[in-house]
Amino acid sequence: MNKLIIIGAGGHGKVIADNALKNGYTDICFVDDHATGEVMGFPIIGTSADIPKLDDGKTDFIIGIGNNAVRKMIAEKYGVHWVRLIHPSAQIAACVTVGCGTVVMAGAVINACATVGAHCIINTRAVIEHDNIIDNYAHISPNATLGGTVHVGERTHIGIGATVINNIEVCENCVVGAGAAVVKNMRESGTYAGVPARKIK
Ligand SMILES: CC(C)(COP(=O)(O)OP(=O)(O)OC[C@H]1O[C@@H](n2cnc3c(N)ncnc32)[C@H](O)[C@@H]1OP(=O)(O)O)[C@@H](O)C(=O)NCCC(=O)NCCS
Repeated sequence: MNKLIIIGAGGHGKVIADNALKNGYTDICFVDDHATGEVMGFPIIGTSADIPKLDDGKTDFIIGIGNNAVRKMIAEKYGVHWVRLIHPSAQIAACVTVGCGTVVMAGAVINACATVGAHCIINTRAVIEHDNIIDNYAHISPNATLGGTVHVGERTHIGIGATVINNIEVCENCVVGAGAAVVKNMRESGTYAGVPARKIK
């Protein structure tokens, strides 16, 4: 098993470290621009500026940062070997594709023929129903549920416990608030909240 470097030693990075352990990684460390020392017993070995010199061709990398725009910036900046991590308790159906750098957390369900892009977060117990298309750098929060044939655009964040009914398009760079119910297409980037969800910003 290769060494794994997690970029970002905050809360999301910790959940990724646990996911990595469950996937058999034993040699795990972090880089972080603001923290030093260790996290969960794993050392912080440098900052993002050190990534090029830490890339020895035998090391896997993953971004442990929840901010979608920051994840995109880092992914585009460094040409390292990005791994995908799928927690063993996640359910991945037939004909699903999951892009590089994406993490699928404990208890998540991705149903048949869904396509999940690169550097996405499919968080704890999220449900991605059949035929969804989740574009790069999206984050589907814990317990969010997307009905069948939903399309989530690049960098969009679906909040914790939000629901999106089937056949809906949520465009790029949206934030859907915690607990929202999305029942209409969202064609304009912005922040949406409530039941039914309406644009608030
Ligand atoms: C929707 C959200 C992004 C808005 O955050 P914000 O831009 O900082 O907005 P504010 O907190 O200033 O709230 C603006 C208004 O929207 C309301 N509001 C905020 N979040 C709401 C939500 N989820 N549902 C309904 N109304 C909400 C606020 O009560 C406030 O109303 P008011 O103007 O009448 O007082 C945020 O509250 C949210 O739900 N984020 C999701 C967090 C999440 O899922 N994290 C998962 C991490 S794994």
